[in-house]
Formats: sequence, structure tokens, C-alpha cells
Amino acid sequence: MATTLQGDLKRGSNDYNWEEEMAALHERTQALDLYEFWSVGKAGEHEAVRDLARFDKAVPHIWKYRDIWPCLKKAGELIDMNESERRSLIMCNPALKGLIATVTTMFAAYRINNPHEIAPAHRHSPNAIRFGLTGHTNFTGVEGEPITFGPGDLVLTPHDTWHNHGNEGEGGAVNLSVLDMPLVNVLNATYFESDYFEEDEQGRRIRKETQEDRFHPEHSRRTYGQGGLLPRSVSHHRGTGNASPMYVYRWEATRELLENLRELEGSPWDGVIVEYVDPTTGRAPYATMTFFAQMLRPGEKTLPSRQNASLIYTVFEGRGHSVIGGRRFDWEPFDTFCVPGGEWVEHVNRSGRDDAIFFVSSDEPALKTLHFYSRHGRGESGEEVLLETSRRF
Ligand SMILES: [Fe+2]
Repeated sequence: MATTLQGDLKRGSNDYNWEEEMAALHERTQALDLYEFWSVGKAGEHEAVRDLARFDKAVPHIWKYRDIWPCLKKAGELIDMNESERRSLIMCNPALKGLIATVTTMFAAYRINNPHEIAPAHRHSPNAIRFGLTGHTNFTGVEGEPITFGPGDLVLTPHDTWHNHGNEGEGGAVNLSVLDMPLVNVLNATYFESDYFEEDEQGRRIRKETQEDRFHPEHSRRTYGQGGLLPRSVSHHRGTGNASPMYVYRWEATRELLENLRELEGSPWDGVIVEYVDPTTGRAPYATMTFFAQMLRPGEKTLPSRQNASLIYTVFEGRGHSVIGGRRFDWEPFDTFCVPGGEWVEHVNRSGRDDAIFFVSSDEPALKTLHFYSRHGRGESGEEVLLETSRRF
């Protein structure tokens, strides 16, 4: 066989058996862990390209909070904060076969905090957020800013910032967390550190469990809470400087803005939507993820759209349904559903009286940074229209 591969026998000669030669070559490439990227015939060509693009894609899915809540409550009883610093249930996409990921780039989890428990400080390379669902005493200290938060408040814990989670009050508190960890894993960049949090005390570095308060509890709102005004007398360098320095976005302000936009036309594909941005740049708070508050007014129905960013929706208010990839998903408060990149989606607020509000997490900034982003919609008569793209046509 070796002589054949070296070309001693020519195609067309009587001794040449093409099938045998190919079979021998195939055996060799398999043994050497090689993929044969060629094709015989036009149909095979498409197949080979399809093979190259093949990976485990997430599927549209919904996690019903009414099913999860009993498990979360039970975990609150069974898991002691002294034994585990974490008490979360992560939503795993059924098509991602054992990967801990809600979509290929992000995971979302519900976390329950029992009264008066504060976990030790830690930090990690993945970016994370908390979004308050129930209780008014969820707590996250971030780089010395002690943030107590309630329903609808968004708290950032950017990569590499020291933070500790917990509950400052008497009642139970549940929040949603979203991390870009599946993406960070793929990039081989994940690390967690929790063993050596230190702070300066009288000129000495002292190892500690929790952080001292170095900022006012409302530092973020006081400094960045007035849209269009940016203080010049305050340092905006917090953490690594690679993320928004505004660490909490209060629900009151978000809700007021949605309300102010109610009478305007809105987007046919999104209804009323606002993005949480870095107030110093006007851009997404993280390089990898961005977040939206989205409101469907009573009876509002969006037109279908499709983008290659993956989206995780958590229902904050209202009831309705979404059609994702041709399948209908009914939702109610605190349910979470995902729209993996490439799926068509449209939303319907079924109520004629109440708003529906989503908290949406998206990996759009990662796609935009890499110049891959695109989004299409359908017009009123079903025609496909390009809404946004990094591509050149
Ligand atoms: Fe964390």
C-alpha cells in the first residue's frame, strides 16, 4: 500500500483499483485522527461543509418556576451555608448533553438565600449578574460596595471582582444569576479563587471572609443614576476596568423608563426594550454579555425575528406565550426560557390589561466584538428583512 500512496501506480492503469486505494487511505487517516475534508460529487461537498460546522446546538426550552420552586425551597432547608457557599439550581439545556449550560455560551440559575447568611468573598474569571426575583434583602457585596437588592434590581459582579452573596434580612430571598462561564470554558480561561481574600488593616494585609464596606450602599445609583450626566470628579476605574463601573441598576429607574416609552411606537420585533449599559461608554456592561428589560404592552404581539446571538428570557411580569423555532411556549412570572442563536422567535402578551416584562440576557457583545453578529426579522407580509449585521453584503 505504501508504494501506491507514493504514486507508483497511476490512475487508469490496469493494476489501479480506485476503491481499494481510497479504502486504504481512509484506514490510514482514521488511525491518524484526521478528517478527510474532500468530497466526491456535488452533494458530498455540502455534506463535508455541514460536517465542519457540526456541534451540539442548544434547543429552545422553558424551565417552569412553579416546578423549580419546590426544589429550591427544599434545597434551602437541606443545604447549610456552612457546608456549601452556594445554593443554586442551574438550568441545563436538554440538547447540550451533560454540559452545564442553558445556551452554548451562558448559564442561568435560581439561587435561594436564607435569612442572615452571607457567603465568604470569592472572585472568578466569568462575568456574572444577579437579578432580584423575590424578597427585598438579597445581598451582594462587590469590591466594597454593599448592595442590598430586591425584585427587578440588576447587580453586576464583573470578572475578577471580589464579591460575596447572601441575605441581609429575615425573609427568604430568591434571585436569578447568569454567567458567561460556558463561553469562558471553551476559551480555556476559567478560574475561581476563594481562599485568600485579603484587605488592608492598619497597614497590614489581613485575610478575611467578607469585605469591609468601602463605598456607600447606593454608590452606583448616586454616581451613575442620572442618565446623560457623568461625574468627572470620581474615578470610574473599578475592578479590572473592563466592565461597567455601575454595579447595581435599580428597578425603579428601569420601570420608569419603560413607562416613559409606553406611548411611543416601539419596535415591531421587540415591543418596548431598554439595554442596561456601561454609563461611561454607552456600551454593553460586559464584553461577553448584555442585558435588556423588555415590555410587551397589553395585547402586544411582536413580529418574528432571528439572530445568531443566544438569548435567555426570564419573565418578570405578565403571562403570554412565545413561538420559538415553530414551537409554542407558554410563560408566567419567573419562568425562564431560551432562544438559542439561529431560532425564529415571536412573543405574545395575552393579557388585554397587564404588561408583560422580560429580563433578557444575551451574548450579543461577544458576537459583535468578533464581527459575526446578524439579526433578521419578518415584515408584516412575511418578507424577510435584515435588521442588523456585522457582515458585508
Ligand atoms: Fe461569584
